[in-house]
Amino acid sequence: MEILKNISLKNYNTFGIDVKANNFVEVNEYNDLEKLYEDGLLNNILVIGGGSNMLLTSDLDRLVLKLNIKGKSILEKDSNIVIVESFAGEDWPDFVLWTIDNGLFGLENLSKIPGNVGTSPIQNIGAYGVEIKDKFYKLEAFELATGKIKTFYKDDCGFGYRESIFKSVEKGKFIIVKVFFELHRSGDLNIEYGAIETELRKRSIERPTPKDVSNCVIAIRASKLPDPVEIGNSGSFFKNPVINSEQFRLISKKYLDIPFYKLAEDRMKIPAGWLIEKAGWKGKRVGDAGVHDKQALVLVNYGNSSGSEVLDLANNIINDIKNKFEISLEIEVNII
Ligand code: EPU
Repeated sequence: MEILKNISLKNYNTFGIDVKANNFVEVNEYNDLEKLYEDGLLNNILVIGGGSNMLLTSDLDRLVLKLNIKGKSILEKDSNIVIVESFAGEDWPDFVLWTIDNGLFGLENLSKIPGNVGTSPIQNIGAYGVEIKDKFYKLEAFELATGKIKTFYKDDCGFGYRESIFKSVEKGKFIIVKVFFELHRSGDLNIEYGAIETELRKRSIERPTPKDVSNCVIAIRASKLPDPVEIGNSGSFFKNPVINSEQFRLISKKYLDIPFYKLAEDRMKIPAGWLIEKAGWKGKRVGDAGVHDKQALVLVNYGNSSGSEVLDLANNIINDIKNKFEISLEIEVNII
């Protein structure tokens, strides 16, 4: 393990933002973490997993720790319920495919979400009607203050819509090292999301397997979401806002076609992508920063944008949506 100086992080964040880290280290095994702790180097760090949910806006004078610890296994094979464990540095899309290839149900809707296993609980990643909290069992995290491993079960994690304690009250206090999921050998698939139903019908699949659902999800994602290998991005830049029924009544009077999802009697979730498109931002480009032309919820870096340029664009969108719809958009990506 070597601490490197003045390293560009361009290849370590899916937005492809070129900032420098004064100090940078790749951690490939658990013992490396203990060593860094013993040397007192974990006091002021930024942990990067897949680098898929962050916008870097300036050079970093703290230690940037790239977590690569790998390994995964199936722990209980006998009953229908199977616990699967994975170290943090496994690539999430590969991990999902591996569970499917092992005949396991549960993660198929979450196929192809860029990132690593270790960062998946931080924002409770979700897509097509499933969030990881639905399949999560527990995680083990290295506590930076004590150098000890602490276990968090599902109820300890404070999971919400793109939320967990690791993004709020416990932010920056732990490094998630290992995540355990509870999957099944058989069971129901979640195919209620409209786009999945349509895709299955298109393929004339009546009795889908997890692999079929995964293939559909991968195709839907490819049709809407930019591949970070080709265009820098961090997936949804904003959260979908939740409004009350009075706000909804006023907007839907003006826009009859507004899509919505009813969460409770007085709470409607509105797609931020729809608001941003309606406000005229879809496909707009300012320098190398832009709004994706197929999914307005995704901001992109066409090559050499800085993080601040992307953030300026985001703030202009937030102000415009506030003026036009009286709705406050919240940024989902971690701004650093
Ligand atoms: N829409 C538009 N214009 C757009 C984008 C969307 O009108 O540019 C409309 C669509 O027509 C549809 C509705 O908005 O009626 C919802 O769109 P979509 O199904 O694409 O989902 P989303 O709400 O925009 C969320 C997640 C995505 C996830 C999809 C599918 C958030 C912040 N985003 O997007 O997650 O893949 O649902 O489940 O909740 C991510 O978190 O990075 C991410 C990509």
